[in-house]
Amino acid sequence: MECTDRQPFDIVRDILKVIEELNTLKDVDSILDKVLGEARAMTHCDAGSIFLVEGENLRFWYVHNDTLFTGTNASKHLYTDFTVPINEQSIVGYAAMAGTTIDIPDAYKLSGNEPYSFNKSFDEETGYRTGSMLTIPLRTFSGKIVGVMQLINAHDTCGRVHPFTADDIQYAPLFANSASVTIERGMMTREIMLRMMKMAEMRDPNETGAHVQRVGAYTAEIYQQWAHRRGLDEFVIKRKKDTLRLAAMLHDVGKVGISDVILKKPGRFEPHEAAIMKWHSVYGAALFANTTSELDQLCKEIALGHHERWDGKGYPGRLPEDLGQVRELCVEEIAGEDIPLAARITALADVYDALISSRVYKAAWPEDKVLEEILRCRGTQFDPEVVDAFMDIQDVIRAIRHKYQG
Ligand SMILES: [Fe+2]
Ligand SMILES: [Fe+2]
Repeated sequence: MECTDRQPFDIVRDILKVIEELNTLKDVDSILDKVLGEARAMTHCDAGSIFLVEGENLRFWYVHNDTLFTGTNASKHLYTDFTVPINEQSIVGYAAMAGTTIDIPDAYKLSGNEPYSFNKSFDEETGYRTGSMLTIPLRTFSGKIVGVMQLINAHDTCGRVHPFTADDIQYAPLFANSASVTIERGMMTREIMLRMMKMAEMRDPNETGAHVQRVGAYTAEIYQQWAHRRGLDEFVIKRKKDTLRLAAMLHDVGKVGISDVILKKPGRFEPHEAAIMKWHSVYGAALFANTTSELDQLCKEIALGHHERWDGKGYPGRLPEDLGQVRELCVEEIAGEDIPLAARITALADVYDALISSRVYKAAWPEDKVLEEILRCRGTQFDPEVVDAFMDIQDVIRAIRHKYQG
């Protein structure tokens, strides 16, 4: 989608087409990735970021930068975590407060009469040179501002930076406003998932919100690297990554079916208690038994298979047809690629997080010991290809750990 030399009708038609595509995405991160990608293509700019409103602040949420962020570990920048107050001091804060688009031809040449100033720290840390900037509030049709999108360094085909054009300033906000409804819906979906997890968390003290956010993010990123190594199509990767993150967050939701006496027991389980605990995988799958969407299907695969092992020694085994009789079921062994990929990846993400975090009954292991253990289990407990993809993106994994603490 681009603005240059095109009729308004064509531009608006293209915007509507992109909005239609956006409506097929569920997870907020995938929605923001698409919104930012399309806005950048439309205005031909090098970089951009999206901040979402959180109370009185804007939380930095998504970023693209063609000059700086390239290669295997580029995703780590997505997990940078900071907030900016909504007030007149910063450019994004002012855009959210005043609800107006701010066009700055050169960030280093502000007149001095503006209420806000340009924060040079990112440029100073990275050596990047911010030039033109278009900062757009993300406003839904009902007038609510859900965030701010900042586009940086519009450039010509030779890469020379220039101010954003009159068409950019007119149409990029139109697109941003239309996309805001989808962004709001993505945030709601994420919140509903977190609430479902909160129910499980209230019952099981080990299942914290931060744990499920981390497992969701690890799973999505490991999948992306696994798929890149296999040379899969970028569009297919993005779509699957979207649903995978949400589904992985619900890996232990079946714990709602386990008795409090067992769930809240301090210390180690007796063998018969551990056996009952294993049923959480089947209960979780039962919640998504009548699959109506790709997301339901993934939720079912992950809930059921996240304790399976590559060598077949995991649990619960195959899912039987009749979920009504779960107690006698799932005794048939399942191994290797017969275990769905989504479950193989979540299995690693979940174990990694359990080892590297402290729990009521254990201290956190040091990182080198955790990685050593995961490599030791490559090909026995874990899918070797999944372990390799995980090892490739350690910078991203660390950034996720840092972002979702608690
Ligand atoms: Fe589990
Ligand atoms: Fe877990």
